[in-house]
Amino acid sequence: MPLTPPDIEKVSALCARRWDRHYTRAKLKSDPVYAAIEEDLRGSTLPVLDIGCGIGLLTHWLRGCGIDLPTVGIDFDVRKITAALHMAQGMSGVSYATGDARRDLPEHQGHVVILDVLQYFPAEEQDALLRAAAQRVAPGGRLLIRSGMSGGSWRYDLTRACDWLARLTRWMKSSPVVYPNAAQFHRVLEAEGLSVVIKPLWGRTPFYNHLIRAERPAVPA
Ligand SMILES: C[S@@+](CC[C@H](N)C(=O)[O-])C[C@H]1O[C@@H](n2cnc3c(N)ncnc32)[C@H](O)[C@@H]1O
Repeated sequence: MPLTPPDIEKVSALCARRWDRHYTRAKLKSDPVYAAIEEDLRGSTLPVLDIGCGIGLLTHWLRGCGIDLPTVGIDFDVRKITAALHMAQGMSGVSYATGDARRDLPEHQGHVVILDVLQYFPAEEQDALLRAAAQRVAPGGRLLIRSGMSGGSWRYDLTRACDWLARLTRWMKSSPVVYPNAAQFHRVLEAEGLSVVIKPLWGRTPFYNHLIRAERPAVPA
């Protein structure tokens, strides 16, 4: 169930900076990823590790939909973590910390979410992060990834151009390096015991985004 416009206004009002308020409003109104993740996590009780959490919008979406899973978010951008902490004041079961996804992942067993982060790493670092993330998925848990994919379509070109624009405007601290591909997700994640399903997730946006759902079977009772 999507957040209503008044719900979205409430979340954006939590931001300390005007730019973050505009960004929050635009993202929550237009990006189909939060509703897709909500659908995957509804009914679960496992905690969530949000890698590259930005200002923490996923948690606000989930909480707004009544999904109160304990959540840890990490991001290497101090400014974004400061904003995430500010916006999460008064929320219980949520913590955010500054850390590099390539070396500072906390201990965790539950669900893992990685939204729009992989393109900032070369392929071998993507593989290492995917392995580390998969190892943190509990039985019955999911690794949920949203990523642009390498490919030859105009959507791919536009996704890449927008990632560069985000870098040039300094919203992002890093530039895109390479976009992953479907074979890579299957190869790395299936070797870690997860079953992988990939589907397009661009909604009404022009981007070449996909949802990668990788699941670890529950331990039989
Ligand atoms: C496009 S934003 C997505 C934010 C958030 N996942 C969302 O969807 O709302 C990508 C995020 O990845 C973070 N990021 C990029 N490289 C990172 C790294 N090496 N370690 C941790 N976070 C990183 C950026 O700081 C940024 O917040």
